[in-house]
Amino acid sequence: MSDLGFDGRVAIVTGAGGGLGRAHSMLLASRGCLVVVNDIGGSMDGSSSGATTAEAVVEEIRSLGGEAVADQHSVTTAEGGQQIVQTALDSFGRVDVVVNNAGILQDKTFGSMTPDLLDPVLDVHLGGAFNVTRPAWAYMKDHQYGRVVFTSSSAGLFGNFGQSNYGAAKMGVVGLNHVLAQEGRKHGIKVNAIAPVAQTRMTKGLLGEVEELATPESVAPVVAYLAHEECPVSGHIFGVGAGRVSRVFVGMCAGWMSDDGQVTVEDVRDHFDEIEDTSDFTIPRRSSDQLKTMRREDGPARSES
Ligand code: NAI
Repeated sequence: MSDLGFDGRVAIVTGAGGGLGRAHSMLLASRGCLVVVNDIGGSMDGSSSGATTAEAVVEEIRSLGGEAVADQHSVTTAEGGQQIVQTALDSFGRVDVVVNNAGILQDKTFGSMTPDLLDPVLDVHLGGAFNVTRPAWAYMKDHQYGRVVFTSSSAGLFGNFGQSNYGAAKMGVVGLNHVLAQEGRKHGIKVNAIAPVAQTRMTKGLLGEVEELATPESVAPVVAYLAHEECPVSGHIFGVGAGRVSRVFVGMCAGWMSDDGQVTVEDVRDHFDEIEDTSDFTIPRRSSDQLKTMRREDGPARSES
């Protein structure tokens, strides 16, 4: 089979001055994609100026014969998102791909978590994905084509000690992923999410024995495939890192169903094992699939995207 190219396609990669975003940008550019390398050059907690620069990544891409422009707008405001998309339109005349990757950390255990540690994290991860994708969506809808990749995290999908703000933001992104998959379907727009594991400044000293294998470059090919015209799915989530790529999904178990629609507290207690049983499950494709499982005449609905 032939190699996957992006000739003439235009991608925005947010938070791409270092770490994963840099790897995504470099790979896309090496495949002929024109890339807007966005980054504010922030520190890891988003509070000050750090070492990551969009310009340096653009230089690297250009030195390898690729095409890219730098953009320094923050993803945290609607205006910033609009301006990032405008950079793509002004520089390259179109936008086909958005990779929402910008991120910060402000970890604390929940007892010490304060509102001032919630808002900045929600603003970058969830707000940022919303702010950048929305103006790009308008363009994609008009052109009946688009690819969006969100960056979620195992911290939200599975839980991680001390990351309630971050985990909530990363699960918010999953909600956006599922809803936009529905809304994009009739416009040729596909959206998917990754939960990466990679050795970056964010994970320094945390990855143990997989540290060496878990390079940002081992994540980027999955992002590139999801950003490609050939991407076969929408609304899916993939765990990616150190050479393993796996689908992650929200499933619904067969559970227990009362005969008459009535449920007592004791019913819940008495059937709790059945309710908890994960041996038989479906992967709902949309919200209404839950309703279908409640119909008596059909039995539990079966659906898979
Ligand atoms: P990183 O800190 O190297 O990259 C994040 C980038 O986002 C930085 O360059 C930063 O300047 C930029 N950024 C922060 N606020 C911004 C804003 N308001 N506007 C534009 N850019 C902004 O860290 P890494 O690891 O490369 O993270 C990339 C993404 O992957 C993040 O969303 C992170 O939460 C996610 N992630 C990373 C994991 C890992 O194992 N490294 C695990 C799970 C998720």
